[in-house]
Amino acid sequence: MAQEPSGIVVEAEGNLAISNGRKFQKLNDPYMLPTDSDEHSRLDLQHEIVRLMLGGELYQTPELVKSTLSPQENTMRRILDVGAGSGKWYNEFARFRIVSYLYFIRAIEMARKFPHADVLGINLVEPNILSDPTRPVPSNCSFQIADANKDMGKISSGYDLVHVRFIEAGIDDSDLFFYDAARILRPGGLLLLVGGDVQLVDEHGKYVPLQKPGTVRYSHLQHLVCCLKEAHLKFGPPRLRYHFWRSMLESNPNYSNVQIKELLVPTGPRSNNLNETERKLAESMQTNLLRVLPVFKAGILHDKSLPEEFVNNLAEGAMKEVREMSTVIHRYLKFVFAAAVQNDILWAARKKPWQEPPGYDLYDYFVRPLHKE
Ligand SMILES: C[S@@+](CC[C@H](N)C(=O)[O-])C[C@H]1O[C@@H](n2cnc3c(N)ncnc32)[C@H](O)[C@@H]1O
Repeated sequence: MAQEPSGIVVEAEGNLAISNGRKFQKLNDPYMLPTDSDEHSRLDLQHEIVRLMLGGELYQTPELVKSTLSPQENTMRRILDVGAGSGKWYNEFARFRIVSYLYFIRAIEMARKFPHADVLGINLVEPNILSDPTRPVPSNCSFQIADANKDMGKISSGYDLVHVRFIEAGIDDSDLFFYDAARILRPGGLLLLVGGDVQLVDEHGKYVPLQKPGTVRYSHLQHLVCCLKEAHLKFGPPRLRYHFWRSMLESNPNYSNVQIKELLVPTGPRSNNLNETERKLAESMQTNLLRVLPVFKAGILHDKSLPEEFVNNLAEGAMKEVREMSTVIHRYLKFVFAAAVQNDILWAARKKPWQEPPGYDLYDYFVRPLHKE
C-alpha cells in the first residue's frame, strides 16, 4: 500500500477481480461495469461522442468555464475530474497548457483560455493512459486512486472546477456528494455534471415500456438494460438520480445558477435527414452501443444473479438489434448536462438528506421490469 501526499490510500493490485475475461474493481461494488483497458478504450470513443454533443467542446457552458478558469497572477487554476475513467478528459484539459507551450500557434485559443491549470483525476482504478508510453501524460496532470463515496474529505479545498461525468452508478448518495464537491470548490467555483441513460426513450424523452419477449415491439436491448438496472438496485437506494439533479442542487445552499440541459441522441443513423454532425453522432452512438453491450453483459454475468445462457442470448439479441438498426430500437438515449456555481458563502454542511417528491414511484424513473408489471 502506498500513501499519496494527499493521504489517499492506493492499493491497486488487491482491489481487482477477473470474471469472464474482464477486470473489475473491488473498492466500490455498486459500480458494476468492468474497469479494464478495453473499457477505457471504449470510454475514449464515448469521450469523442460527448464532444460531438457539445459542438467540439470538452464541457457545457463554455463561457462559464472560461470565466471560472480565467488566468490569475501567481495562482495555478485547479481542476478535479471525479471518476476519470480512461483519463482522456482531464488529460486533454491538461494538455491544453502543455501544447500551448510547445505548439503555441496551434493551441493559442485554448492557451489564452487556460494558461495555468493543474488537473487531478481520481478514480477507483488507474487510467490506462498511465501505462501507455505512446500517450505521454502532461506534467500538469496527476492521478490518484480514490473513492468518491469515501475519500472526498481527503481532498483539499480551493478547486476552481469539479467535473463529474457518467459516474452516477458509483455514487451512493448524489445529494451528499454535491455537498462534498461544494466544500472542495472555491467560492465561485464551478460544478459540471454529465449523466447518460441507456434505457431507450421516445422522441419526448419518455421511457419506452418493456414488452413481453416474442411480441413485435419487444427489444432485447431494453430488456438487457432493464436487467442491469435491477441488479444494480440490489445495492441499496437507486443511484442513477440525474432526474433529480436540479432539485438536489437548487435545495443545496452552497450552489446557485443551476443550469440543466437534456439532449436526446438517436441510437443510430436511421434517418436520411441528418446533417453531417448529426450523422456522425448517430453513427458513433451505434458504434458505442455495440461496444457497451458486452460491457453490460460482463457486469450482469459478474453479478451472477441471472443464468448465463439467458444473459448471453439477451446480449446477442441486443447486438443484432443495434447492428441491423432494428425498428424496435429506432429510439433515443438521453443525456443530461448540469452546471452549478459554488456560492460566495461559508460552506454549509448537509442538515438533512434530500427527499424524493411526494408520490414518488421508482418506476417513473426506471423502465419497469416484466416481473413487476
Ligand atoms: C462510465 S466511466 C466514465 C469515465 C469518465 N468520467 C468519462 O466520462 O469518460 C465511470 C468511471 O467512474 C469510476 N467510478 C465509479 N464510481 C466511483 C467512485 N465512487 N469513485 C471514483 N470513481 C468512480 C469508474 O471506475 C469508471 O472509471
